[in-house]
Amino acid sequence: MKPSFDVLDKEERQSQQVARQRGFLPRLRAVVVLLAVVYAVYCYLFSKPLLAHPLPKHTGPYAVGTIDIEAPVSPPRSIHEARFKGTNEKAFELETVLFSLYYPTDHDTAVAASGQTKRHTWVPQPLSLRAQGYARAAHISNWFTDKLFTTAIDALVGGITIPAAVDAPLSDYATPSSQEKRTNKEKQPHTQPSEDGPVGGYPVIIFSHGTVSARTDYSHFAGELAARGHIVAMLEHRDGSSPGTIIQQPNQPNRTRLLFDVSAVETPDHSLSLTEAEFHHAQLSFREAEIEAAVHILKAINAGHGSQIASQNPHHHEGRHTLPHWTGRLNTHAMTVAGHSYGATGALQALRGGPTQARPFRAAVALDPGKQSGPLNEDVRVPLLVVHSNSWSSKRSVFYGGRAHFDVVKGIVEGNNKRGNPSWFMTSIGTSHPSVTDAPLLEPWLLSFTTGATIDVYEGLRQYVHVVEDFLAFLAGGEVRGLMAEKAEFPQYDEGAVLGMGKPGQGGRDGMVEDLKKGEWADWRRYWQIHVSPAGNV
Ligand SMILES: *[C@@H]1O[C@H](CO)[C@@H](O)[C@H](O)[C@H]1NC(C)=O
Repeated sequence: MKPSFDVLDKEERQSQQVARQRGFLPRLRAVVVLLAVVYAVYCYLFSKPLLAHPLPKHTGPYAVGTIDIEAPVSPPRSIHEARFKGTNEKAFELETVLFSLYYPTDHDTAVAASGQTKRHTWVPQPLSLRAQGYARAAHISNWFTDKLFTTAIDALVGGITIPAAVDAPLSDYATPSSQEKRTNKEKQPHTQPSEDGPVGGYPVIIFSHGTVSARTDYSHFAGELAARGHIVAMLEHRDGSSPGTIIQQPNQPNRTRLLFDVSAVETPDHSLSLTEAEFHHAQLSFREAEIEAAVHILKAINAGHGSQIASQNPHHHEGRHTLPHWTGRLNTHAMTVAGHSYGATGALQALRGGPTQARPFRAAVALDPGKQSGPLNEDVRVPLLVVHSNSWSSKRSVFYGGRAHFDVVKGIVEGNNKRGNPSWFMTSIGTSHPSVTDAPLLEPWLLSFTTGATIDVYEGLRQYVHVVEDFLAFLAGGEVRGLMAEKAEFPQYDEGAVLGMGKPGQGGRDGMVEDLKKGEWADWRRYWQIHVSPAGNV
């Protein structure tokens, strides 16, 4: 996440100028400080989280259950030879895999389960670890700033919990009972679902996070997919991209892994530093190994080893109530790999060579595929959905081979369509890079201010959930609905439409009013620009 502060600076300068002219800046400052103090005291007295909003409840037909699973990778896999400077410890040795599962449960059992166990906190303990990682990311980590960040995180989000029932039973209903059906245009694109479709059991999604992120950062998005009948595994990567994570193994002391970059590692003989490209390559290989390890664990659960995995789970043996009953209930033949930013780069990479035993991915969802995480894999052989946030499409960036990042992404999706794999590429209007994370839900004002997102934060996330849900429905049964059925009207990202000054067919035109009367999806043009769709071009 790289918030742009240009806008901020400009606005601040302007408002400062105005304020100085009127001569009330000192008074204004005093008022702001006073308000902040009053607000802090209010939050303290009424045990309200300071500034951060609680995470909203999930909205799908199912209630949402969650389990943290950490499982040993045995034998450990050595992904790259690099070692940490100073300690000589191997930097890329995969010993355990850690992920949060979000899954469908029933509303009554979820209530019962949440009475028995505490909810997961959004920032896992100890907070100081996360704080130290953020301070490192900002290149200001020292004793004082670490303490300061810990205090700030505690005050801001320390009280936030994830509204999912820990270790509640997996729902018995195979399909959502009250799945809302969205009506849409009759037109159907000439596409068929892939031949080797789902075999039965809940569809499984493995999700890989972006830089300076952790497994809880997309909890609402993941929970919304779970509430719609999917099992979602949110990985926490130990490749140096998590702010702070603990590697826990049975009968071994805890080890912490803080955020690290290329400057922290060297070759085993202490002679060479790694290049930036080598470092990214090592990180992406590590992520791929973690993705494979998660697949392995989910297959083991499906094969009946749920109780063994729970009994080894250092996270309070979570899963001991529900995992033993998951045998044969997961569709582990056809999983979907998904990711955001660096994670989207990783998800694309995991498709290389097509589905295998270790990577049984029959589809992928890439949200804001990375601009600085190395070249994007073009060897895609399964259906693909690429969603860009507004800021990701609008900010032009030159990518590998001197091509624009947007064009590279578009080329991958178009090529994949030509090979007969239905694929979509679209931009979500009004959103910014972190819009799909929990951050805007927790701090809407702060996020809009620093990243320029203009869309209502709940609406932004809802749009992401709907489009991914429609893609997953297409994968499950071949139903082409919602945005999946729309044609690509915008071969290039079009700024004009965002401002409501577009050509006919874009958002903000006069005809919109009539269209709005035609159901929920008729006004999709307010939220989306479709760049590539198998429904063919206009
Ligand atoms: C490891 O860390 C976790 C989380 O802070 C803690 O609950 C657990 O007790 C620790 N285990 C050991 C062996 O120190």
